[in-house]
Amino acid sequence: MTGRGAEPDVELLVESARDAIEAAETSDDIRAVATAVSGKRSPLALAHRSLGACSPEERKQRGQLLNQARSEIEGLLERRRAQIEAVESRAAMEADRADLSELVPGTVVTAPGRGHLSLVTRTRDALEDVFVGMGFEVAEGPEIETDWYNFGALNIPPAHPARGMWDTFYLDLDPPESTLLRTHTSPVQIRLMEGAQAAGRLPIHAVMPGRCYRRDTPDARHLAVFHQVEGLVVDEGITFADLAGTIEVFTAAYFGADIHARLRPAYFPFTEPSAEFEITCTICRGAGCRTCSQTGWIELGGCGMVDPAVFAAVGIDTERWSGFAFGFGIDRCAQMRHQIADMRVLTENDIRFIRQF
Ligand code: DAH
Repeated sequence: MTGRGAEPDVELLVESARDAIEAAETSDDIRAVATAVSGKRSPLALAHRSLGACSPEERKQRGQLLNQARSEIEGLLERRRAQIEAVESRAAMEADRADLSELVPGTVVTAPGRGHLSLVTRTRDALEDVFVGMGFEVAEGPEIETDWYNFGALNIPPAHPARGMWDTFYLDLDPPESTLLRTHTSPVQIRLMEGAQAAGRLPIHAVMPGRCYRRDTPDARHLAVFHQVEGLVVDEGITFADLAGTIEVFTAAYFGADIHARLRPAYFPFTEPSAEFEITCTICRGAGCRTCSQTGWIELGGCGMVDPAVFAAVGIDTERWSGFAFGFGIDRCAQMRHQIADMRVLTENDIRFIRQF
């Protein structure tokens, strides 16, 4: 401040503000000081207000001085506020710090271990690896499907008795029963064939893993939310022998050389002829046990030659192309490979089970 005789009060005002600001120790203090030194009722504000009574010349001079005083006070406030904040936040961090000296070695659980992918995901990855090794591509499709893809195009028209094979969760959308949670991965076959046909990208050799849903009560061998792998080959000159060979090679590659596959006649609307495929029971290695009802075989999935009605639904020329398809449970594979008595443990998140894999 200039200290010119006429304005010693302005100089004093800044000095006393400076003292008050420097004495502030906490953010509460600084807030109170700010109100006292630059708030509406501060000496500074009062001095501004009294300018009205001055002569124009005096008002100009004193006004300038008061403005300078205000900006100086505000700068001081700002600087002190920043210092206090820095100190306080350092103190808060210090207070939050864990006191490691309290940990007695050996009595403390170690840091949480890293998790790992679920057994189902790892089974799916392993199955994909086997099929990719055999020359298949991997494709996916949506879990929410239309009636057409999940049923109609697969030669299962509305009210067909075979619908009873799949207890379905429908979405509450109009028209009723038009949209559903897919009950199997077979609709992905349809999407793949449609796309390939439209783009001129036949042949197809693909597997399609994914989650499926059925309105079933879970038990030791079934889950309401489960996983399947669908397989589809569409090429020239494909026969049932190609299908049987593919299944046998996959079984030995995934389960081991002493596990075999066999096909038994069955019915599926989308394949003709159709078969169920079974593998040697991995619990008793074929000798017969409770899990396989003493037969030595466990059912894994279904398969067959793509029905001409399915080819017709996607516009594929059956004069030139033929194909086979199969579908089986990923969870069931995990169960068989790791001898899991009750499949429901796959969804229960029991750490004692999860840690075993
Ligand atoms: N989609 C059938 C099911 O979930 C399994 C199946 C059977 C898939 C025969 C196929 C097949 O591709 O050809 O029960």
